Amino acid sequence: MKVVITGGAGFIGRKLAQRILAQGELTGPSGEREAVTELVLFDAVAPPDEELADARVRAVTGDIADAALVAKVIDAQTNSVFHLAAVVSAGAEAEFELGYQVNLDGTRNVLEAAKAANGAPRVVFASSLAVYGGEVPDTVVDETPITPETSYGAQKVIGEFLITDFSRKGYIDGRAMRLPTIVVRPGKPNKAASGFASGIIREPLNGVDMVCPVTAESRMAIMSPRTVVECFIHMHELDSARLGASRAILLSGFSVSMGDAAAAVQAVDTNRTRGRITFEVDPHIQAIVDGWPKTTSSAKAGALGFPSDSNIADVISAYIEDELD
Ligand SMILES: NC(=O)c1ccc[n+]([C@@H]2O[C@H](COP(=O)([O-])OP(=O)(O)OC[C@H]3O[C@@H](n4cnc5c(N)ncnc54)[C@H](O)[C@@H]3O)[C@@H](O)[C@H]2O)c1
Repeated sequence: MKVVITGGAGFIGRKLAQRILAQGELTGPSGEREAVTELVLFDAVAPPDEELADARVRAVTGDIADAALVAKVIDAQTNSVFHLAAVVSAGAEAEFELGYQVNLDGTRNVLEAAKAANGAPRVVFASSLAVYGGEVPDTVVDETPITPETSYGAQKVIGEFLITDFSRKGYIDGRAMRLPTIVVRPGKPNKAASGFASGIIREPLNGVDMVCPVTAESRMAIMSPRTVVECFIHMHELDSARLGASRAILLSGFSVSMGDAAAAVQAVDTNRTRGRITFEVDPHIQAIVDGWPKTTSSAKAGALGFPSDSNIADVISAYIEDELD
């Protein structure tokens, strides 16, 4: 079967690709597990060479806003699409037109191409907690109203609704997941406003001093890269009838304060020389973070068997194992 990952050169896209290649199969059009014979990584940038060592992998570099190119990549033979390409939160806020081109027009291009494919391909869409805004409760649950207050959040909500509507019409078999902040992001930070939550772990463990721009008491809902990749696979494999009328679900993150994250970095068993962590509040970032939920808890995701993490120490150990050792 042919599988396409948009954003396949990005942080989660690359990890998802490795996971799919290792497993070697996914549920195909027959409803049974089928071998993945072609995995296309579509992205604005080329993936690193090591991702292309596997004969099943093909990279296509281009713009998701280019409808003709997307139709070539997601062709009649495509069975599954993981749609992750996006301009992330602060990027979409800073560049209004670009955000709509990539996050809305790009998503429509993906859905139109999938609609034109043979059968109704499974399409898994990466949504975000940015769909919530305004008076957000400390714990976001399945019933929390959708009230985006950023362009990125609005684009993700529209994406979710399109996934549900194209599925209702039988054009695709779509699914959308609202991801908490994924920690630890390796390498360089991207334009996400939540970048410090990874930085507070990543920088000290790489011997770099870290200035955290929010108070030690600030809490966030997070999920590890390992777990989010398992959620993508689980969402793909799920019988979508179990999702109900809306094809979008919330994933359960866990709550961690930046002070606890800093303490856990100091406590972790490693002989690496650690950088120092200091707290210097940036009022702009603090105000953004104060508006975010402190955690997310989805009874629906739990009932459907989606995995979740439980503590920051395990997340840090997994980062050391996967990225540093
Ligand atoms: N990482 C998180 O904490 C998090 C949280 C919530 C939601 N999400 C969502 O998950 C998805 C993946 O996130 P990520 O952390 O891997 O982000 P990322 O920035 O690492 O990856 C996104 C990829 O999309 C690509 N892209 C951007 N514009 C493009 C365009 N015009 N055409 C083609 N490709 C383009 C980028 O080059 C990048 O490789 C995104 O949709 C993001 O909104 C991520």
